[in-house]
Amino acid sequence: MNFKIAGTGSATPKLVVSNDDLARVVETDDEWIVTRTGISTRHVLSTETLTELAVTASRRALEAAGVTASELDLIIGATTKHDYQVPALACVVQAELGAPGAPAFDVNFGCTGFVGALDIAARYFETGGATRAVLIICAEALTRYVDWTDRATCVLFGDGAAAVVLTPGSSLLATHIHARGNPDPLHALAPTGNSPYSQNSEEHPYIEMNGREVFKFAVTNLCSDVTKVMEQARVMPEEVDLFLVHQANKRIIEAARERLGQPPEKFPTNIERYGNTSAASIPLLLDELVRAGKIEDDALLACAAFGAGLISGAALIRM
Ligand code: ACO
Repeated sequence: MNFKIAGTGSATPKLVVSNDDLARVVETDDEWIVTRTGISTRHVLSTETLTELAVTASRRALEAAGVTASELDLIIGATTKHDYQVPALACVVQAELGAPGAPAFDVNFGCTGFVGALDIAARYFETGGATRAVLIICAEALTRYVDWTDRATCVLFGDGAAAVVLTPGSSLLATHIHARGNPDPLHALAPTGNSPYSQNSEEHPYIEMNGREVFKFAVTNLCSDVTKVMEQARVMPEEVDLFLVHQANKRIIEAARERLGQPPEKFPTNIERYGNTSAASIPLLLDELVRAGKIEDDALLACAAFGAGLISGAALIRM
């Protein structure tokens, strides 16, 4: 016994920024961005807070699940940065939902946050720590910590929040999480503060990335992680209905799809409209597909992600 996905929800900022808009900020153009990444627009926080999006996404998921906030046994936030350093996003969301009491904490798996949170939630259900419902809220504001003078990174990211509500079930067939700890290829330094005793000077507190190295890690690990969960569950690739892959770069998704020998219709994307929303990316895609009626009851989903850490992971889920 672990969980089933009882409801999904998402919320994105109102402001939509096109590639042409970005070309007025940095030296770039629509053709370069579309060809290299598949991204046409992204949603960017302006007047809203990330907390507002996270709460809206959570309420939508609770409503879809028919679960009240007071029934939550656990809230897991998956984020790399939200409106507060402390407290956790999960605690901020819990306060807004108005049902304190249940444990609430954040996890930082980089862009693999959704898969990592599913893995943790399953263990709570398996060990009796959760008996009624768990909320996973993935929310990211990467446009707040990219360097808007660095055209190689600022064009890639967007903001958004997406949630799932889990209730007891047997939907999770397998998970696999892999870490190759190394900050060099992808990191954002924390601000050093203004301690009069610190010997460290202020560093560059923005995302810095070796795109090519992350690209190689992504393709290799998407394929090996998905293969591992299929082997664990004794499932053949042909039996998987949809591969919901971290929406970081369409070329990465395409390369992984080709290596796995699967047809394009089994790899849905929304990166065109949202860019890379880090931990929110897979549940945002899942929520869109669910609400569009594109996920059949009993569909077999392989979710797979990769990102800062470097961490990657996959989860095989029967809806
Ligand atoms: N517009 C125009 N030109 C650009 C831009 C831009 N926005 N950005 C870079 N260029 C130029 C570079 O300066 C370079 O020019 P040069 O050849 O004259 O030096 C040229 O384009 C090629 O640059 P590359 O970095 O080699 O381009 P590449 O084809 O590798 O694409 C990219 C870069 C899109 C970042 C790719 O490497 C990639 O997607 N990597 C994976 C990144 C990723 O997925 N990160 C997220 C995962 S983790 C997370 O989600 C937090």
